[in-house]
Amino acid sequence: MLTRLYKYFTEGRDDLDERIGMTEKQKKLVQNTWAIIRKDEVSSGIAVMSALFTRHPEYQNEFKLFKGIPFDELSKNKRFQAHCANIIGTLSGTIDHIHDPELMEAGLLTLAERHKARGQTREQFQNLRHVLEDLYPSVFGKQYTPEVQEAWKKMFDYMFPIFYRVFNG
Ligand code: HEM
Repeated sequence: MLTRLYKYFTEGRDDLDERIGMTEKQKKLVQNTWAIIRKDEVSSGIAVMSALFTRHPEYQNEFKLFKGIPFDELSKNKRFQAHCANIIGTLSGTIDHIHDPELMEAGLLTLAERHKARGQTREQFQNLRHVLEDLYPSVFGKQYTPEVQEAWKKMFDYMFPIFYRVFNG
């Protein structure tokens, strides 16, 4: 009993939110680390999009505005920067709703539907998840503890199947 009380006061409440499969602590870890990324939406978005285009160069052609622009020139292109900031802003909005999973789900469904209508695929979203997961160690540095890694795995395990439902349906 005393040990549990001690844990309660030192580690905080750890109740599992079954709707999203995350503990309150994991939600905090996701929000706190995302704060690092959202601090500079343009640079963070460029890092994500550049990593995506480096691994899957053919994806650049999916973007009417960026098709044919030499990769080296993209990061200076203001329309590209605006798109990069937009992606990070959208994800920030999602993470802001972590305590209201139904609202989060609604936003993600709309996002996926818009992408599906433009011809994006489940595989492209899956690959984006891998790109994000591979970027995290360098972006978060020392803050990327095993606990943070686990919290983000849970976050993505909630988010991505919502996208996939749209692509499968
Ligand atoms: C977490 C995942 C993603 C987020 C948050 C995101 C966010 C956005 C946003 C905010 C827009 C502009 C608004 C809209 O029309 O929806 C957009 C457009 C677009 N996204 Fe994504 N996206 C994601 C994944 C992807 C993936 C995996 C691809 C595949 C390569 C992709 C390709 C596109 C394309 C082609 C456009 C249209 C760009 C244009 O012509 O203006 N997105 N995305």
